Amino acid sequence: MSGKRVCVSDFEVEAREILPKAVYDYYRSGADEQHTLADNVAAFNRWHLVPRVLRNVSTVDLSVSVLGQKLSMPLCVAATAMQRMAHPEGEIATARACKAVGTGMMLSSWATSTIEEVMSSTTASQCGEGVLWLQLYIYKDRELTLSLVRRAEAAGYKAIFVTVDTPYLGRRWNDMRNHFQLPPHLSMSNFSSASLAFSEKNYGNDSGLAVYVAKAIDPTLCWDDITWLKKQTHLPVIVKGVLNDEDAVKAVKYGVDGILVSNHGARQLDGVPATLDVLEEVVKAVEGRCDVYLDGGVRRGTDVLKAIALGAKAVFIGRPVLWGLACQGEQGVVEILELLKEELRLAMALSGCRSLSEVSRSLVRRVEFASRM
Ligand code: FNR
Ligand code: LAC
Repeated sequence: MSGKRVCVSDFEVEAREILPKAVYDYYRSGADEQHTLADNVAAFNRWHLVPRVLRNVSTVDLSVSVLGQKLSMPLCVAATAMQRMAHPEGEIATARACKAVGTGMMLSSWATSTIEEVMSSTTASQCGEGVLWLQLYIYKDRELTLSLVRRAEAAGYKAIFVTVDTPYLGRRWNDMRNHFQLPPHLSMSNFSSASLAFSEKNYGNDSGLAVYVAKAIDPTLCWDDITWLKKQTHLPVIVKGVLNDEDAVKAVKYGVDGILVSNHGARQLDGVPATLDVLEEVVKAVEGRCDVYLDGGVRRGTDVLKAIALGAKAVFIGRPVLWGLACQGEQGVVEILELLKEELRLAMALSGCRSLSEVSRSLVRRVEFASRM
């Protein structure tokens, strides 16, 4: 056990020592040469904060309303698959931590705990107030897809984030070299058959997950399927994986309730822009017609502040939660969320912002040399 963890990267260093190599590699990797993976993080340094002074920042209100739910801060948890590889309590620990801190968790379709288990583990705990959303992969089998939606509705999930950037899985070299698959005691618990639960053992000489996606996930997905999905559920539908103004305008036209600007943590198409670099383009195109969120590379409170200043309603984190889980289960995720919350509170105070409504575009300025790069 190392000393006090003071920033997100301290958790990653510790998690790397704890996790089996193939698991760390799966969690950490981006696609191909991982240019976008590095750029997602670097993009935040291409913006300066421009603080205002003498504003009485003795109290700072971080609360925000996301999809009709009040949260304690504009930082939520993105879907990351197979969390029990990081800690035996996996998604249940994450959900409890989110509830304790008062924020939202997007549960992956590919969780190693069921939709129902995760919900009941949070309702059982008295402290805090959280919200659960379901991340949806659209299967070739539409009845199966709809059964996930129905189960989420019945269990009390509050929105569906449909992932639109994964008709096939990106090439993650480490997973291909490691022939990545789930450890034998785990499965994607929302599915009953071994083939859908990713617990078969015949993926050959490749990333098992890439083989799974090619077999099960629907690559014919198109905009009309958003109309289809919206007709199937009363829950808000958010598209996860938009990266430009053209698609953002389409998403609005197809009636989505929100857009998550995401490049899937740089795990799909390498060479796409960092999400922060396209955020403003999407926000402008949407013209306030739905909320815009961002994920990818958020590692510090100042990152959250910059994304809010550029128009995001809230941001999501993926990998940092996995590092928290690996280090210390539920408590580790609480620590990650509290750390980022405190960093954001301080960043707002030092910028002269007493609430998120005071965080405006004039708080950030593009670093000059970076704009010529
Ligand atoms: C993901 N992501 C993801 N997205 C999704 O829609 N469904 C999923 O099951 C997963 N699984 C998953 C596993 C792992 C290990 C990672 C790292 C990512 C993408 C995720 O929701 C989010 O877009 C990114 O993780 C955000 O980037 P950062 O915060 O990890 O940089
Ligand atoms: C991934 C899938 C699960 O990024 O979305 O690994």
